[in-house]
Amino acid sequence: MRLTWFGHSCVRLSGTKDVIVDPFIGDGIEVTADCDIIAVTHGHGDHMGDTVRLKKKTVAINEIAKYLATKGIPVEGMNIGGSIDVDGVRFTMTPAVHSSWLEEGGIGCNGGAAAGYVITMDGKKVYHAGDTALFSDMKLIGDLYRPDVALLPIGGRFTMGPDEAMIAAQYIGAPLVVPVHYNTWVKIEQDPSRFKSAIERTTDMKVAVLSPGETIDL
Ligand code: NI
Ligand code: MN
Repeated sequence: MRLTWFGHSCVRLSGTKDVIVDPFIGDGIEVTADCDIIAVTHGHGDHMGDTVRLKKKTVAINEIAKYLATKGIPVEGMNIGGSIDVDGVRFTMTPAVHSSWLEEGGIGCNGGAAAGYVITMDGKKVYHAGDTALFSDMKLIGDLYRPDVALLPIGGRFTMGPDEAMIAAQYIGAPLVVPVHYNTWVKIEQDPSRFKSAIERTTDMKVAVLSPGETIDL
């Protein structure tokens, strides 16, 4: 499996299928990458992104799934704790400590709970935490699913920052950590190299700080 980080929380996992999580890269920037399946972690605009425009088979929590169905999106609804198989890719929805809001034309509604995913494809498991605070059940996610990679937000303000994400990485125990959700805006500016050196100095985990568009092999 290959993993490409496009920016913000947007990654593509490429293997048997191409899966994009949270198709938003930055304000006014279209996601042009192709995929078979989209997974949305929660309703905020910087995660829903181009989901409606891209019109792909989409995995989302029930409340967002209902909204997307009204837009003609072929959607697979699910909820936290459950797993589904979509065209040979397994999606397990995990908790996230965050809020969720669906907005269109200045009018909004609650988007259900915020979530993350463990995505299993071609024998590899990727944990995308979504937007979240640190929570101790990340240990359970690590014990249950043993992810090969953990994608963790480090931007602070709206999610955990680097100090909390360091503890999250240890709770999850994935051998590889990829920081996401930082430096998209001034309000979430962080230095990912400090996060990398702090983890690699104190644990045997590796941190891959990717440039937007960069791909790594898992
Ligand atoms: Ni959010
Ligand atoms: Mn966000």
